[in-house]
Amino acid sequence: MNAPLSPSDTLRTALAHLLDGLPPKAAAQAVERLIVNYRGRTPTDAPVLRDRSDVVAYAAYRMPATFEAVCAALEAFARAVPDWEPGSHVDVGGGTGAATWAVNATWTGGRPVTVLDWAEPALALGREIAAAHPDLKPTEWQRSRIGSALTIESTDLVTISYVLGELTDADRTAMVDAAATAAQAVVVIEPGTPDGYARVIDARDRLIAAGFHIAAPCPHSAACPIVPGEDWCHFAARVSRSSLHRQVKGGSLAYEDEKFSYVAATRFVPAPAASRVVRKPQIRKGQVLLDLCGTGTPTAKDAATTALAATDAATPAPTTTEATTIAPAVTSGADADGGNRPGTGPVPTLGRTTVTKRHGPLYKAARDADWGDAWPPPTGDDDRA
Ligand SMILES: C[S@@+](CC[C@H](N)C(=O)[O-])C[C@H]1O[C@@H](n2cnc3c(N)ncnc32)[C@H](O)[C@@H]1O
Repeated sequence: MNAPLSPSDTLRTALAHLLDGLPPKAAAQAVERLIVNYRGRTPTDAPVLRDRSDVVAYAAYRMPATFEAVCAALEAFARAVPDWEPGSHVDVGGGTGAATWAVNATWTGGRPVTVLDWAEPALALGREIAAAHPDLKPTEWQRSRIGSALTIESTDLVTISYVLGELTDADRTAMVDAAATAAQAVVVIEPGTPDGYARVIDARDRLIAAGFHIAAPCPHSAACPIVPGEDWCHFAARVSRSSLHRQVKGGSLAYEDEKFSYVAATRFVPAPAASRVVRKPQIRKGQVLLDLCGTGTPTAKDAATTALAATDAATPAPTTTEATTIAPAVTSGADADGGNRPGTGPVPTLGRTTVTKRHGPLYKAARDADWGDAWPPPTGDDDRA
């Protein structure tokens, strides 16, 4: 008997069928139209996704990437709440339902799921695609406008994926507040751009003000240590490119990296990572350079390490001295809740750590570490292949 397909494979197959019968040129043209519509756009009074060709183009072209980004965010979140899983889920501005697939890929099994969106063609297509998965078939697809009148029924998990950028400031605030009122956990994902990160930080601040704790990616609920305008926290998820992608974007690469920013917050106390790798690790001869967001009291040695470069993960690292902090210390005044009370929690830190061969098993773990991973690796992860 064949093994059942993973949600990811089922989604990919369902999306591939969407383009059946559509001349490749027509599909590519629909995507080009969508890209133009989205480029430089400001919030509109009416849905951008107006008809079936718009939503087929969105689903075929963007949904695999938003699905992978949400999966990556949820995976990090799930590690911070190992004893929790959502018993119900509402996906706000859910469109064709990428986040519903990602939640199912993270916590298998059925649960009541509702997708809210104002674009009826997106909801209709989402329902059609979800029919391919028995757990997602019963999903409710409801037309709903995000704004001051938005209410979300009480639920365990609210996801807000690639939506904040389409809203006015007031609607964004209304949505995050409605999510905080309704849910035990809220996960916000945005494009991994400076603007996307800024929107994530605003949502993070509002969730903390509403009494939430940050579960991921941050190791704490204190202020983000990144200086606004100098850098932005983002991660990357690998997405296989379909023939449609290759047609639209050209080139022959089999994959591309979707950059995203995110925050996952809970009403209950999570167990966030001690620190997180916030750039692509740099492997050198006999050493690995890890840029970490963590907590602790910076030591004199730490202060000598390189601050994060302000540009991109690919920025060549300046030469560092020698090994510094390998596992960040937590200040003795740290809260069990990850520092929600100002002045009492861990001190956020951002800096570079060098792991060398003489750190033994940790060196091997560092060589395996990926951008976005918790550091040090959680017990049981240190022998990853
Ligand atoms: C870029 S798509 C993201 C869809 C989906 N969440 C994903 O991650 O693939 C943004 C979605 O937000 C919806 N949206 C934008 N503004 C909205 C509003 N004011 N009310 C309801 N939905 C809205 C759009 O219709 C669209 O489906």
